[in-house]
Amino acid sequence: MLQNKAWTLASFPSGAVREDNFKLIELPAPAPKDGEVLVKNLWLSLDPYMRGRLSQQKSYVKGVEIGEVMTGETAGEVVESRHPKFKPGDTVTAPSGWQLYCSVNGDLLTKVDASRAPLSNYLGCLGMPGRTAYFGLKDIGAPKPGETVVVSAASGAVGMVVGQLAKAWGCRAVGIAGGPQKCEYVRSLGFDACVDYKAGNLYDDLKAACPKGVDVYFENVGGPILDTLLRLMNFRSRIIVCGLISDYNAKDPYGVKNFRAILVNRIKVQGMIVFDWLERYAEANQALLELVQAGKLKYRESVLEGIEKAPTGLVGLLKGRNFGKQLVKLA
Ligand SMILES: NC(=O)c1ccc[n+]([C@@H]2O[C@H](COP(=O)([O-])OP(=O)(O)OC[C@H]3O[C@@H](n4cnc5c(N)ncnc54)[C@H](OP(=O)(O)O)[C@@H]3O)[C@@H](O)[C@H]2O)c1
Repeated sequence: MLQNKAWTLASFPSGAVREDNFKLIELPAPAPKDGEVLVKNLWLSLDPYMRGRLSQQKSYVKGVEIGEVMTGETAGEVVESRHPKFKPGDTVTAPSGWQLYCSVNGDLLTKVDASRAPLSNYLGCLGMPGRTAYFGLKDIGAPKPGETVVVSAASGAVGMVVGQLAKAWGCRAVGIAGGPQKCEYVRSLGFDACVDYKAGNLYDDLKAACPKGVDVYFENVGGPILDTLLRLMNFRSRIIVCGLISDYNAKDPYGVKNFRAILVNRIKVQGMIVFDWLERYAEANQALLELVQAGKLKYRESVLEGIEKAPTGLVGLLKGRNFGKQLVKLA
């Protein structure tokens, strides 16, 4: 019998997530029922949205209960199938949770082609973060060639893709990231500039990097960075509110102080959740895969080894310790 390991929720964090909010359990791998597929997970994706699942507050998806396996997407290999669309050896992404094996309804699995790109990429630039960048920028930001696109958390899973798409679509791409090393990496991806928000000069540095102002701001962090951007946005510019990571662990969120700029400059501000584009995922998957295969979309991963590291990875991700898409290699 296959032996499984799974992280369950032990307690709800108050403020910052801690490793001891989770408990590792060992149990036999679940046998698949009719319509289900047994998957051996090879990669686990860690994502900022997970902080929202560790709360009893109302959100756009129900949270994890105490004792339940922690939510998460994995990429892995089919071991046994009782669903007509899958056979052993198929590579898939699955809403498996933080565990080594899962038996999942086959209708919830996505078959992916690991011969066209590394399997782990299907959790990053070719997965949920890539699609978020694609639809947010294309449909809400609607950038025109020559416009200036700014993205925060630019060295991260979503941010890296946003800036490279902006370049591919003829725009000036400016990143914001924490520290000189991350900024240098972002520039190496082809961004026109990258500003270090930790250097303490964000407004002046961004102003210099965006001589024609900002037409599209892809918001991943919130807090004082958003307020600074509001001072630089152009007339009829657009802000995609994708994430507010600086608030996720905060007991007293910063909010928005410079709201007036939205009125004065007629800025369109729109929130997004990537599931809203579910019916168009194939469009993004195809466009992103073509860019990866053409060498026009580069991607960095931050890999921890072993399922034991999953809580440490999430704690670090929410503090910016990751450098690239945060993954845990499970086998
Ligand atoms: N709406 C959706 O459907 C959707 C889908 C996917 C992701 N998202 C959101 O998109 C954002 C990025 O997600 P991701 O998966 O690409 O994560 P990521 O950027 O790979 O990692 C998070 C990064 O956020 C930055 N960060 C952390 N705390 C910060 C703070 N207090 N102030 C400023 N920056 C901070 C860190 O980079 P630095 O070191 O540069 O600060 C860190 O590396 C998140 O807000 C996430 O919730 C939304």
